Amino acid sequence: MKILFLDQSGQPGGAELCLIDIAKPYQQTCLVGLFADGSFRTLLEENHIPVRVFTTQPISVHKESSLVQGLASIQQLVPLIAKVTRTASKYDLIYANTQKALIVGAVASFLSRRPLVYHLHDILSPEHFSHINRRIAVTAANRFASLVIANSQASKVAFVQAGGRADITKVVYNGFHPAKYQTEESVVTEIREQLGMNGKFIVGHFSRLAPWKGQHVLIEAIAQCPPQVTGILVGDALFGEQEYVQKLHQLVTALHLENRVKFLGFRADIPQLMAACDLIAHTSTSPEPFGRVIVEAMLCGKPVVAASSGGVVELVEHGINGFLVTPGQPQQLAQLIATCLQDSDATTKIGDRARITASQRFDIANINQQIAQLLQAVVHSTAR
Ligand code: UDP
Ligand code: GLC
Repeated sequence: MKILFLDQSGQPGGAELCLIDIAKPYQQTCLVGLFADGSFRTLLEENHIPVRVFTTQPISVHKESSLVQGLASIQQLVPLIAKVTRTASKYDLIYANTQKALIVGAVASFLSRRPLVYHLHDILSPEHFSHINRRIAVTAANRFASLVIANSQASKVAFVQAGGRADITKVVYNGFHPAKYQTEESVVTEIREQLGMNGKFIVGHFSRLAPWKGQHVLIEAIAQCPPQVTGILVGDALFGEQEYVQKLHQLVTALHLENRVKFLGFRADIPQLMAACDLIAHTSTSPEPFGRVIVEAMLCGKPVVAASSGGVVELVEHGINGFLVTPGQPQQLAQLIATCLQDSDATTKIGDRARITASQRFDIANINQQIAQLLQAVVHSTAR
């Protein structure tokens, strides 16, 4: 099957990292078309997945866009749609991985008469998107997509609540390679030494720096923990959230945590860094659609404490294979960290169970098989 994947981002967010794993089995025949250039392109090239940057002009539709801004951006879209349509005619199927890719893909699907699949990585709720953006996404998906793949039940429910068609929507979780999350003990020791955190209780946070990812919640929690609790914040502002980055640094200074909280920036060695942590925290203050970092922590056999909202509750069973806390409550998080610090045996067991559950539920081989079956059904039914 020849697939034209479309993604608006040049940066490797979770949706883009997920796409690498989905596109890989099709690398001989597929193309990934991007609407921006950046390190995501390099990652695709390193994975030997054919990639083309269709435009480097930013499309000015934002999560909170108004109708007027939306209409103004149509002018920008016309040449892009023309290029994508010409390319799509050489493929069997268009696979849109982001919202702007959905809009462009929808028109290209209509013009090239190729079926459209939309991989929904977002919770289309008022907390995350403006009314007009939700309407555009739902209308395009309902009218043009043969299949919507939602990354969690929570994303599906929000899509349907926003008017999306339940009958074309299937939930498929992100897949992972469990073997990538095994780290040698010697590497762990080396990382802890490099961090200067030997003998400390390290809480790791692995997310792009953005207000709704809630890194401030962890910093505030660490301030309320015993002094041996330290934190590493792994990730960078991928989509222009520089003001938030500054605020985080100011918060660390104001709380006198300079020696206890380290910012490591964007890193490619996530499994190794996670292995060096005692606990991994997820602190999103708005509902997380899926939360790759949570599954990655589980695959590393690490206890994870996650903000209980959105798709997260489909991943973690509190007290069984991880912990759930109320989003945006640093005090509750601090208490949970203190409990893990005290009861390391129970916490280790939870990490062990997490590794087993996650390896079974999120194995990339099974997930890719589910996706292949869904895509084949789309191509067969539209070929008739
Ligand atoms: N990640 C990474 N390097 C970093 C920080 C994060 O490679 O420095 C990865 C992380 O391992 C995860 C992804 O970025 O696979 C983030 O996905 P998630 O679903 O957690 O959140 P998103 O950013 O997509 O909302
Ligand atoms: C999006 C979501 C994140 C999800 C990822 C992969 O970036 O914000 O929750 O894990 O897509 O589906």
